[in-house]
Amino acid sequence: MSYYLKQGQTWVLSNERILELIVPGLHVQIPNTYDWNYTTVPQVMVNNRSIEYRRGFVLGGSSSVNTMVYTRGSRDDYDLWGRVSGDPKTWSWEALQKWILKSEKWTAPVGGRDPTGQYDPRYHGTDGPIRVSLTWSGPDDFDRRASRNTEIQKEFIEKLDSNDGEPAGLCAYYTVFLLDENLKEASLKAWTQWTFGGGERNSAATGYLGSRARGRPNLSIILNVHVKKVLPSTQDGKRRLDIRTVEIGSKSSNVTLRVTARKEVILSAGAFGTPHILLNSGIGEESHLDSVGVKMVHRLPDVGRGMSDHVCAMVTYTLNATTPSIDEEAALRQWQANRTGPLAEWREAGRRILWSKFPKSSPLLRQYGDPASGPHAPHIEIPFNAAGPTMAAFAVLLTPHSRGTVKLASSNPFDDPLIDPGYLSHPFDIQALTEGIRITKRWFDSPAWDGLITGFLGPDPDNATWSETAFQNALKESVGTFLHPVGTAAMSASSSAAGVVDHELKVKGVHGLRVVDASAIPYVPTAHTQAAVYVLAERAADIIKSSWK
Ligand SMILES: Cc1cc2nc3c(=O)[nH]c(=O)nc-3n(C[C@H](O)[C@H](O)[C@H](O)COP(=O)(O)OP(=O)(O)OC[C@H]3O[C@@H](n4cnc5c(N)ncnc54)[C@H](O)[C@@H]3O)c2cc1C
Ligand SMILES: *[C@@H]1O[C@H](CO)[C@@H](O)[C@H](O)[C@H]1NC(C)=O
Ligand SMILES: *[C@@H]1O[C@H](CO)[C@@H](O)[C@H](O)[C@H]1NC(C)=O
Ligand SMILES: *[C@@H]1O[C@H](CO)[C@@H](O)[C@H](O)[C@H]1NC(C)=O
Ligand SMILES: *[C@@H]1O[C@H](CO)[C@@H](O)[C@H](O)[C@H]1NC(C)=O
Ligand SMILES: *[C@@H]1O[C@H](CO)[C@@H](O)[C@H](O)[C@H]1NC(C)=O
Ligand SMILES: *[C@@H]1O[C@H](CO)[C@@H](O)[C@H](O)[C@H]1NC(C)=O
Repeated sequence: MSYYLKQGQTWVLSNERILELIVPGLHVQIPNTYDWNYTTVPQVMVNNRSIEYRRGFVLGGSSSVNTMVYTRGSRDDYDLWGRVSGDPKTWSWEALQKWILKSEKWTAPVGGRDPTGQYDPRYHGTDGPIRVSLTWSGPDDFDRRASRNTEIQKEFIEKLDSNDGEPAGLCAYYTVFLLDENLKEASLKAWTQWTFGGGERNSAATGYLGSRARGRPNLSIILNVHVKKVLPSTQDGKRRLDIRTVEIGSKSSNVTLRVTARKEVILSAGAFGTPHILLNSGIGEESHLDSVGVKMVHRLPDVGRGMSDHVCAMVTYTLNATTPSIDEEAALRQWQANRTGPLAEWREAGRRILWSKFPKSSPLLRQYGDPASGPHAPHIEIPFNAAGPTMAAFAVLLTPHSRGTVKLASSNPFDDPLIDPGYLSHPFDIQALTEGIRITKRWFDSPAWDGLITGFLGPDPDNATWSETAFQNALKESVGTFLHPVGTAAMSASSSAAGVVDHELKVKGVHGLRVVDASAIPYVPTAHTQAAVYVLAERAADIIKSSWK
């Protein structure tokens, strides 16, 4: 039934030796063999569309298949963890500094480019397992125009390093132009940072389960099995609820195996997998468990609730340019020769990212309250890629008011969970995306783009010939996910009835069970989520070690 990686014969679902999972530039070609193939339930506020939802189905999980953008978000996002967990001594930007740096190994870009002045070394770790680097290639026309635009339009400024905890800066209202991977001019400094190094993708699997870790006598990695549930352990006969047994099985056979931990079980199945396993185990809300015929073992209503995610709206521009094609075979030969070239980076990703904060006086914030975690947290992210002849720009809502759920479809642990992100279910969110589109329009409404940007195809909130409904319909048609779900087994104060895990990430009311993954993060950070997950996990490792001293 199961394949032990150590016995070395079967490598299915291992990340190793799979070119698409190693070569950064092959990112878009990763086959869905390595995906859970989830789809959301129809999203009522998004014209009832069901949205495909990618999750990594391979060692390293989503970090083995993700887009590799490395952003930590705002210091306020981490301080918020302290406020909601009631433990600001453990969970705050300042307190977490050691662990923020611990996962990272800052790595010079391949090809010998000098990165001086393109990032701030004060904010980077140098000894961690996850290599973070800059792109191989240099500036192009789009990059130069973008930089010139920050000189023309005062609303947009540049930063040396976006990972200093203050991506949105200090002013009451400005949009920060901060990630610029490709510019060499001294005045044009901020570059996108990526979880690749030496021309290869890094992931939780390459970083934490590399050959040294795999060689440990006390580590077993079992692939191609499915955790069905966790179960109360019976050995110690005490009256407390002790959950240290894991039931594993596989879809293709009826064999089931139970493993009981001497000390504790740590669930790290991600924002969908973890609540799915907890609910399958009867840990959740009674009426929901009843409705699918799962017997409640422990009442914890917030399991699978409180999902928070990044939605985006897409607008389109026409460009007087075509994306230069690359010779893939030659690029692969170059990558194989010395890990440089177009495949050593991922060109299609946002070459530049704008992080924008709504002004305090914004009617939107007055009407609905400000969902941002604090003064440094932006509301909108706009990554650009300069593809021509048509270019998509995405306005991403970093601070949604909407919340979603993960529920069981049935009592069969092999059935997909029902994923309902609840996109745009709060009225703030569609209006905030509309503002995001307006910021995008302002950014491109500048002489810096003369001769390159030739038209705006919308959807346009300011087009008088369109009704509000027509615009909103077009916006909803364009809505997609940035794949950053968190909060489905959220951390909260141990005294609080809300939430799922306490400040030490222990499942509330249970002994022997912890959650260490994105589901424990209470609100989606104002960033792509992998860095926050590494920070949480590094801190958790030390919490766990010290609790067994
Ligand atoms: C396509 C894509 C692009 C992304 N791009 C970026 C980006 O550019 N930058 C960024 O910062 N973030 C990005 N993200 C998000 C980031 O990768 C995730 O936030 C992060 O990996 C979440 O970590 P996790 O440990 O919580 O969950 P995951 O990484 O999803 O890991 C969960 C693991 O548990 C396994 N699992 C789940 N259920 C079970 C079960 N029942 N039995 C056994 N195993 C199970 C899964 O197979 C997986 O290996 C992207 C994600 C995706 C999918
Ligand atoms: C997703 O689909 C692909 C292709 O059909 C398949 O190989 C893969 O096993 C599927 N994933 C899961 C978790 O079933
Ligand atoms: C969406 O689906 C619901 C339930 O099936 C239905 O009541 C509603 O009219 C649909 N809305 C749209 C916009 O199609
Ligand atoms: C597991 O093995 C590694 C390497 O041999 C060792 O450093 C570590 O202390 C061991 N851990 C435990 C919990 O025994
Ligand atoms: C699993 O068990 C069920 C009944 O318990 C049976 O119908 C099914 O054929 C079995 N499947 C396999 C692959 O053995
Ligand atoms: C890598 O190889 C390419 C040709 O395959 C060559 O042009 C380039 O100079 C090499 N780069 C380095 C840093 O060796
Ligand atoms: C398109 O770009 C070329 C130069 O690359 C320029 O000569 C031409 O004027 C541009 N066309 C428009 C419509 O801006």
